[in-house]
Amino acid sequence: MQRFITDIAIVGAGPSGMMLAKLLHNAGIRAILIERQPMQHVLTRIRAGVLEQGSVNLLTQAGVGARVAREGQRHSGFMLSYGDDQLRIDLESLVNSEVTVYGQTEVTKDLYNALNADGIVILDHASETAVIDLDTEQPAITGVRDDGPFEVRAQFVVGCDGFRGIARQAIPESVRTDYERIYPFGWLGILSETKPANHELIYASHPNGFSLCSMRSERLSRYYIQCSLQDTVDEWSDERFWETLKSQIPQDIAQSLETGPSIEKSIAPLRSFVCEPLQYQRLFIAGDAGHIVPPTGAKGLNLAFSDIHYLSSGLISYFHSGDETGLNGYSDKALKRIWKSERFSWWMTSLLHKFESEDTFAEKMRRAEFEFLCQSRDYQRALAENYIGLPY
Ligand code: APR
Ligand code: PHB
Repeated sequence: MQRFITDIAIVGAGPSGMMLAKLLHNAGIRAILIERQPMQHVLTRIRAGVLEQGSVNLLTQAGVGARVAREGQRHSGFMLSYGDDQLRIDLESLVNSEVTVYGQTEVTKDLYNALNADGIVILDHASETAVIDLDTEQPAITGVRDDGPFEVRAQFVVGCDGFRGIARQAIPESVRTDYERIYPFGWLGILSETKPANHELIYASHPNGFSLCSMRSERLSRYYIQCSLQDTVDEWSDERFWETLKSQIPQDIAQSLETGPSIEKSIAPLRSFVCEPLQYQRLFIAGDAGHIVPPTGAKGLNLAFSDIHYLSSGLISYFHSGDETGLNGYSDKALKRIWKSERFSWWMTSLLHKFESEDTFAEKMRRAEFEFLCQSRDYQRALAENYIGLPY
């Protein structure tokens, strides 16, 4: 058995776990990460690509902000469309802010390179991970790697192991409540080496379903269309994808759309989920392990980073001055922001998607809401305020 002793043991080396380890390391606090997948796999996963200013600030504060500052695209607005009707949400004039388009894959790479440079240990490709001894002063994470079993003992354990992780399950059901909503559709996403449809994102609602035109760079586009949960990627040829997308976005955009072969294609279900509380004894939960939002509005990573902001400051105060206030308040404070982002992501999802088996009244309500948005700067401002990210 390989034994490690550290200050904080972190399950999961996605963006949450790596950001936490980096901020702790900068403050002189030791952490070890335990990751189920080989890091090569973690580094190539494709996820959403819009960063709130708070997330960019956190990357900068962690000393990992150089590339996002250089390569991230600053967007001062985005488009909402309903059929051929278009409304630009002008983030700059409405709320005097912007968002940064920069893929989560790049955020993950930047964090990983920084952790490597700092010599922070990641025990990757670990199976049979378990959280043990939570009711003692020295909880631990155990698991097995190619070279045999290991144990990481620490003062605190943090679960950053995503929705399918094990850490959350260590909170007994008698104290834990899970809140969940599963949407009756998924998103089929493709990546293609083509010029983006527009210089800003387009969230397009249509009586046949939702589409999103996004991007990674001048020659790399990311598109999504709403699909059935029963659909498989094989049923969606590139031709069928492009035809459907073109029929659901405004015609002037569709006419000039550059299409090409997809270099990635995948289907993701849409879910809202929150676990309460996010702390139990010496265990803290952060990021997707504690909550999931549907991708409409791109809040997933941003919400994970606000958790990490609260948790890292709580841990740093505790280790530097013995002050437990931040740690004790972590769950309540993080959940307040989480629920507001849950509400926004649910609202944007409801506004833009077609729901199976809905009546004709529902479609009329979405249309009326879109038209009200078009005429009310106040309503647009509320949308913009949420989109750029609520304050930490
Ligand atoms: N043991 C160790 N690691 C695990 C285990 C386990 N039992 N289960 C899952 N993991 C790992 C996953 O392999 C993954 O690398 O935990 C990591 C969790 O990473 P993410 O799912 O990316 O979650 P998080 O780091 O909280 O990132 C926030 O924002 O946009 C959203 O979903 C998107 O990934 C994104 C998230
Ligand atoms: C993406 O670019 O992948 C993306 C952008 C905005 C979203 C979701 C995903 O709301």
